Amino acid sequence: MDSFVIEGGRRLAGKLRINGSKNAALPLMAAALLTDEPVTLRDVPDLADIRNMLRLLAELGCHRVNEGDDRRVMTLHATDRSNSHARYDIVRTMRAGVCVLGPLLGRRGTCRVSMPGGCAIGDRPIDLHLRGMRALGAEVSMDAGDIVVTVPPGGLVGATIFLGGPFGSTVLGTANVMCAAAVARGRTVIESAACEPEVADLAALLVRMGARISGAGTPRITIDGVPQLGKADHTIMPDRIEAGTFLMAAAITNGDLVLDNCPTDTLLATIDRLNAIGVEVEPIEFLRPAGHPADPQRQAVRVTCGRVIRPVEVTTQPHPGFPTDLQAQLVALLTLADGNSVITERIFPDRFLHVAELTRMGAKIFRQGPTVIVSGVRELHGAPVMASDLRASACLVLAGMAAQGTTTVNRVYHLDRGYESMESRLRDVGARITRVSVKEGAGE
Ligand code: EPZ
Repeated sequence: MDSFVIEGGRRLAGKLRINGSKNAALPLMAAALLTDEPVTLRDVPDLADIRNMLRLLAELGCHRVNEGDDRRVMTLHATDRSNSHARYDIVRTMRAGVCVLGPLLGRRGTCRVSMPGGCAIGDRPIDLHLRGMRALGAEVSMDAGDIVVTVPPGGLVGATIFLGGPFGSTVLGTANVMCAAAVARGRTVIESAACEPEVADLAALLVRMGARISGAGTPRITIDGVPQLGKADHTIMPDRIEAGTFLMAAAITNGDLVLDNCPTDTLLATIDRLNAIGVEVEPIEFLRPAGHPADPQRQAVRVTCGRVIRPVEVTTQPHPGFPTDLQAQLVALLTLADGNSVITERIFPDRFLHVAELTRMGAKIFRQGPTVIVSGVRELHGAPVMASDLRASACLVLAGMAAQGTTTVNRVYHLDRGYESMESRLRDVGARITRVSVKEGAGE
């Protein structure tokens, strides 16, 4: 099991390119199940979750057919519809496996998907996904830990579906309903749909495949079902959470970074809070290739931060609010602020695995329910730390880069699920990070 050993106190400076989005790529890959023709995706990140999704799709008869080419280009072709069972072994390693549900139901009329369990960031129910499937006419039952969904003889029929829950809408639930409704009979209206940019990216792919969808990216999505979908070629949107993480990495190291391919338009709430903290994020026009119009989804931006980090109040919210997936990294930054910050987590109220670990590094954090008060300290101190979730682990890498001395972040396989070659990319801009293999039981 690998760890990162980080020598803190180095300023980041240089240029990084933001990769294609993990959370967009996973449902886009699953959408290839909706057609018998090949679907090509570009700028696919090289991540453990993507490899797990490929494994799951292969079991479901949908294979990558361009092995050996550019590894960021993936052509998926669903040629065998005989197995529609997404097994526990795979879904438990990657909760996003649940996003095969809508495409399988839409194309094959029946499927069996292992019920995803909770995970380190809290309970992860899927009642809203199932509500959506039922509203389209599907029959849903449980058998041996699997969700069994079948379409009645007349096929799926469009409906008006409300997808709001106690914590807002559901991103993958919206993706699932959109995929199934794309090939249902008649019109579906999803009310209280998730507005996350990854939902809009999925809609863009489905439209390229022949679907009729409008309103994706807003709370009301209208889908007019078509009999079948076909081939498509689509470039995945840049990863806004990776971009936000690197913005904060620059800030916490008092650095000066240029991020290329940055989806600034999807990060407005994050940039607003960073500005309040004292971080400058400026688009760099001269890096735009001649003749290319300005694209706020793929900008080059320069991020700099003064010496003083100002405290702020932040509440995580569904998009376009401040994203839960950047909360942990922001807490790392605020541990060094000049005063008290208040952070409230409204999407996953228990998503605070990083708090105890940051405390081991000298941070002063007081948690009460879904809120933490972070009292800024003058410095953090290196320590061995570990977190069992992707973004909490990213937060510890940021803290380690700012801390005095050596920090060992254990079990970085969580990071490898969502950040491609994080250590070498940060090393390229001045961080001192090495990956070491640690034998299980030795020091963990
Ligand atoms: C997506 O998960 C992301 N995962 C998560 O990214 C992200 O944190 C989350 O959206 C919120 O933005 C992928 O895209 C692969 P939800 P998802 O359904 O779709 C409740 C990361 O670090 N809810 O939008 O599974 C739920 O408990 C990750 O990259 C229900 O009540 O999240 C939560 O409070 C982790 N019933 C809220 O809604 C349901 O049926 C939002 O969850 C579904 C969800």
